[in-house]
Amino acid sequence: MSTQAPTVQPIIPSDALVFFGATGDLAYKKIFPALQAMTRRGDLNVPVIGVAKAGWNLDQLKARAQDSLEKHGGLDCDAWQKLSSLLRYVDGDYADAATFTAVRKEMGAAQHPAHYLAIPPSLFEKVVEQLVSTGCSRGARMIVEKPFGHDLASARQLNRVLLAAFPESQIFRIDHYLAKAPVHNMVSFRFSNAFLEPLWNRDHIESVQITMAENFGIQGRGAFYDQNGAIRDVMENHVFQVMSNLAMECPARHDSESIRDEKVKVLKAIPAIEPCNVLRGQFLGYHDENGVAPDSTVETYAAMRLEIKSWRWDGVPFYLRAGKNLPTTCTEVIAKLRKPPQTNLTDPAPQNYLRFRILPEMTIAIAVSVTAPGENGQRSLIELEACRHPRPEDMEAYERVLSDAMAGDSTLFARQDYVEEAWRIVDPILHQPTPVYPYAPNTWGPEKDVPPDALGRVTPPGRWQLPVPSA
Ligand code: BG6
Repeated sequence: MSTQAPTVQPIIPSDALVFFGATGDLAYKKIFPALQAMTRRGDLNVPVIGVAKAGWNLDQLKARAQDSLEKHGGLDCDAWQKLSSLLRYVDGDYADAATFTAVRKEMGAAQHPAHYLAIPPSLFEKVVEQLVSTGCSRGARMIVEKPFGHDLASARQLNRVLLAAFPESQIFRIDHYLAKAPVHNMVSFRFSNAFLEPLWNRDHIESVQITMAENFGIQGRGAFYDQNGAIRDVMENHVFQVMSNLAMECPARHDSESIRDEKVKVLKAIPAIEPCNVLRGQFLGYHDENGVAPDSTVETYAAMRLEIKSWRWDGVPFYLRAGKNLPTTCTEVIAKLRKPPQTNLTDPAPQNYLRFRILPEMTIAIAVSVTAPGENGQRSLIELEACRHPRPEDMEAYERVLSDAMAGDSTLFARQDYVEEAWRIVDPILHQPTPVYPYAPNTWGPEKDVPPDALGRVTPPGRWQLPVPSA
C-alpha cells in the first residue's frame, strides 16, 4: 500500500470577493478593517462587492467603510485608496433574482468568486438558491459566519443546502478563534516539546479548565444575542476549538484534512452533555438591553463539565466556562497536574499546572513548587514562563480567515463533521434548557451548587471553584 500523500490539486485563488451583509455590524467592526489590512499587505487585488438591502449607493458604502476604518484601527490613506477603487455595491433584496444578476455584472470577468455570508443563518438558504440559479455559484467558494445553525438539526439542514451547491472543499465555515496566533501556539507547543507528551494524559493531568471571560456585556447586540446565548455564541465554537487543540492527537500530516480529522475525533469521543453538568447564568440588567425579550431566559454565562472518552483523556474532567460581564477579559487554559505524593514535609505540596493564556496577551507557563532559602521548608508555586507576548497577533483574525479562504486554505475552518459533532454535544441542553440563575455584573457567575453527576461525583460547586484568571 502506498504511503504517499495524495496528489495535490492546484488551488486557484479567488478572483472576486462578494460579501453579503455589507451594511451590517460585522462588516463595520471587522470586515472593512480586515480588507484594508489585506490591501496594505498586497493580498487583495480583486473586485470587492458589498451586497445589502439598505437603499444605499456606492458612495454611502464607501463613507461607511471609511468611518469603520477610522473607528477600528485607523485609516491608512494608501491602502484605503486602493480598497476604495476595488469596492462595488449592489443594493437589493436577497429574494430577488435581479440582485444576483447585478452581482454577476459587478463580478466582471471573475470566474472564481468567494461569496461571504455575513448575514443571519436564516437567510443562507435563500442566498445560496439565488447564487445557483443566477450562475454566481459556478467555480465559487462559500465563506459562512458563525453560528452555523442554532442546533444539530438546523446545522445539518444548512450543510445540506450548502453541499448541494458547493463541494465541501470550497466551503469555509468561519470560527475566528482558530485564526488567533495563541490558539495555534498551543498546538505547536504541545507537538514540538518532547517533555510534555509523557505528562499530557489521564495519568498525570487531573483536570483541564478553559475560561473565556469578558468584562463587557452584549454591546448593543441584544437582538442577535437573545436568539443565541453563551452556549451558541462562543461555547460550542470558540471554546470547543480551544479544547480540541488541547486534546487532539498529533496529525499524521500537516495538510488541512489531517489536522481537521484529529480535531473531529476529539469531539466524537465526547458524550452529549447531561443537564446536571451544566450551569447557566444571566447577568442582572440583561432584560434592560435593547432587543432582549422582557422574560428572556437566555444565558449570558455557561459553565459545563465534559469528558473525552479517549485513551488519552478518559476520566479527566474538562471544565469550560464563558460569560459576559465577568470581572476581567481573558481566555485561559489551566491544566492541573495530579498532586505529587504527600511526603512528611510539613506543608502539602502545591499542585503543578500548565497555563496557556490566549487573551489579552499570549502566555505559556508551567507552575512548579520551590522552596526559597530562609523559608523554613515552606513550598510555594512559581510560574516558569515559556513565553509572554503582549500582543501576539501579527495578523488580525479576520484578516487571516478572509485571506486564507480566498487562497483556498481550509485549515482554519470548521469542517461539516466537526460542526455537526459540536452541536450534537450541546443539543440536549439547548432543547431542554436548565434553569438560568442570576449573577451580578463583575462577579464570576451565579453562586449555585451543581448536583453530583451520574456517577455520584461532586464537581466543584457553583462557580466551579476553579482558579479564576488574574486580571
Ligand atoms: C464573537 C462573539 O464570535 O466572539 C462575541 O459573537 C465575543 O460575543 C467575540 O465577544 C470574542 O472574540 P474576540 O476575538 O473579540 O475576543
